[in-house]
Amino acid sequence: MKHFLRLTDLSKDELYEIIDLAIDVKKKPISNRMGGKTLGLLFEKPSTRTRVSFEAGFYQMGGNCVVITPQTSQISRGETIEDTAKVLSRYLDMTAIRTFNHERIEQFAGNASIPVINALTDLTHPCQLLADMMTIVEKKGKRFDSMKIAYFGDGNNMANTWIEAASIFGFHLSVATPQDFAPNAAILHQAMAYSGNKNNIEITDNPREAAKDADLLYTDVWNSMNQKESNEKIINLKNYQVSQELAKLAKPDFLFMHCLPAHIGQEVSESIYKGKHSVIYQEAENRLHTQKALMLKLIELNLQED
Ligand code: CP
Ligand code: NVA
Repeated sequence: MKHFLRLTDLSKDELYEIIDLAIDVKKKPISNRMGGKTLGLLFEKPSTRTRVSFEAGFYQMGGNCVVITPQTSQISRGETIEDTAKVLSRYLDMTAIRTFNHERIEQFAGNASIPVINALTDLTHPCQLLADMMTIVEKKGKRFDSMKIAYFGDGNNMANTWIEAASIFGFHLSVATPQDFAPNAAILHQAMAYSGNKNNIEITDNPREAAKDADLLYTDVWNSMNQKESNEKIINLKNYQVSQELAKLAKPDFLFMHCLPAHIGQEVSESIYKGKHSVIYQEAENRLHTQKALMLKLIELNLQED
């Protein structure tokens, strides 16, 4: 069974095919491909974009969705993830899961006989990256090899996923984060190996260095859903805000992106967030198109495996 738990579960060519298909689907929506199919949405954390875009997207393609939360299922009463996966596989055709520990989704996928999609874990958020890559292609074309992407702030699930993306697509990624909030060491190690140690991924504690000549400035919240609000963290990260001052160092036609939701005034200044370089709503819209393309691609890949 082909799942999408990490960006590296698909090849570079397959990821490009998804982006191309998403661009087609955006122009000419598909209305009937999921007729008679049911998508499960097992969400153990809040979500606006991911859950609604999966649900709307699957309905738009003719299918039905079931939203499952711990409170409305036996998960809150301790039913094992193994049994949950085995039972849900008998009702559903595909499932997207948002959870805490990444091992939990791996365990679910290991026991499922339907494709499983990572709708965010504490470790990675690959669906977001699909929409981010599509937005870059729409705005700048596919010239990834010569592109510099700079990520600022917490070394969280988004930073980890950007590292995976850089290892696949080969662009120059500079992650600016204080040493105490560095991205996941295992992901970094795997990414270096995956990219053939091309030295295209750089971790720095100097945000100005990261911003210099960047094509894209990217940031995310300083306290993620798995973390308690921490003032200490905010103080430590204050020099990593994407601000006009930092943006002056980037290329004149730089893009600003953020997975959202945002804390304006923390990780990004209001003028950058609302300014002319910001493509945040196009990026959010592209969640819908890329996830449709991803689901179509997963069905195709799993039919080939049968
Ligand atoms: N970017 C993103 O995944 O947003 P939600 O948490 O609203 O799904
Ligand atoms: N890092 C954020 C991403 C939200 C889409 C979180 O995990 O809360």
